[in-house]
Amino acid sequence: MNNYLKKKKNFWKGKKVFITGHTGFKGSWLTIFLNILDAKIFGYSLKPKKYSLFNQANCNNISHKNFYADINDLKKLKHKIKISKPQIIFHLAAQPLVSNAYMDPINTFKTNIIGTANLIEAVRNCKSVKVVVIITTDKVYKIKKKAKPFKENDELGGIDPYSASKASTEILVNSYIKSFSKFNTKVKVATARSGNVLGGGDYSKDRIIPDILNAFNNKKKLIIRNPNHVRPWQHILEPLHGYIILAEKLFKNEIKNVGHSWNFGPKNDSFIKVYKLLEKINKIIKIHKISVKTNYYKETKILKLNSYKSTKHLKWKQKWGIDDTIKKILDWNNDFKNKKNVKQLCEEQIKEYLS
Ligand SMILES: NC(=O)c1ccc[n+]([C@@H]2O[C@H](COP(=O)([O-])OP(=O)(O)OC[C@H]3O[C@@H](n4cnc5c(N)ncnc54)[C@H](O)[C@@H]3O)[C@@H](O)[C@H]2O)c1
Repeated sequence: MNNYLKKKKNFWKGKKVFITGHTGFKGSWLTIFLNILDAKIFGYSLKPKKYSLFNQANCNNISHKNFYADINDLKKLKHKIKISKPQIIFHLAAQPLVSNAYMDPINTFKTNIIGTANLIEAVRNCKSVKVVVIITTDKVYKIKKKAKPFKENDELGGIDPYSASKASTEILVNSYIKSFSKFNTKVKVATARSGNVLGGGDYSKDRIIPDILNAFNNKKKLIIRNPNHVRPWQHILEPLHGYIILAEKLFKNEIKNVGHSWNFGPKNDSFIKVYKLLEKINKIIKIHKISVKTNYYKETKILKLNSYKSTKHLKWKQKWGIDDTIKKILDWNNDFKNKKNVKQLCEEQIKEYLS
């Protein structure tokens, strides 16, 4: 075991961690990651989708307890947090898709805004919790004409319903921190913002990698939308590693008075246009047929994050550039197709990442 992993385990071993959204793409990877670090995990989510990384990697056997319930059910959430007595909470449960939010804005607002308020309310009633990390997105910022990378204290915005729901989440978290002394003294609350993450085991619709792999694996036509949009592409382990360091440092009281929001974006060379990403992938695997759909629905054209604060205070930095990220995903997909044990292949990538 390498020294870094040993150090991480020293902190996380036996820590009681409550993850909302643990059945989702990020939540499943986070569950596997924290299990490697020997944390004791409690998950609270809707039931996993039949075809999901959570099921493929048998994540229900990893968590100490799996609670399958709605984040909008305040009574149940309070109860489950109370009986779990977690020390650290990662809040990922959300309706995370821009397209679904256009189709069902009410439920997106409810789950993403009220769901987060419910979580914080539940924490107000629970003595064991010391740290809460709330996952929002790079889409919380107000888009300006000049495309400068966003810093944490830049103005919030959010035009489309998903972005608006996450910007509202940020405002509500800020309100709780400023209004209730508990969140200045006994509980540290942070928000973490990152962009599109890529990795094996994502089966969400209207996301570029799942769409590409689906087209490749099933020899189907690939439809891409908005090929000229620039996105910060990063491997899923990058922000997850950031959330883990953030929680640890907050728990140890090592960061003070620098604000509660944190960006975890990739380096500059990982900001590329959708079609460039596709070109890079298409050089390695051959996609049967590609067609382009522009203005599918309104999305921000360029999103760039400035992650200087996380680099400075958390010593967090991107490990895998765009080419490494693509390689890891295609390796994962290949091993998956060759029926390799899914939990094991996630674990191998996490250990490689931490080496
Ligand atoms: N995947 C990305 O590229 C990305 C980028 C930026 C931010 N995020 C954020 O990261 C978080 C996780 O995203 P993901 O990609 O893993 O999404 P996902 O859809 O794979 O998972 C969502 C999780 O939330 C849970 N959930 C949804 N509605 C719920 C409800 N009403 N009650 C309880 N649980 C509920 C689901 O059961 C699932 O476990 C979200 O907050 C999302 O906004 C994701």
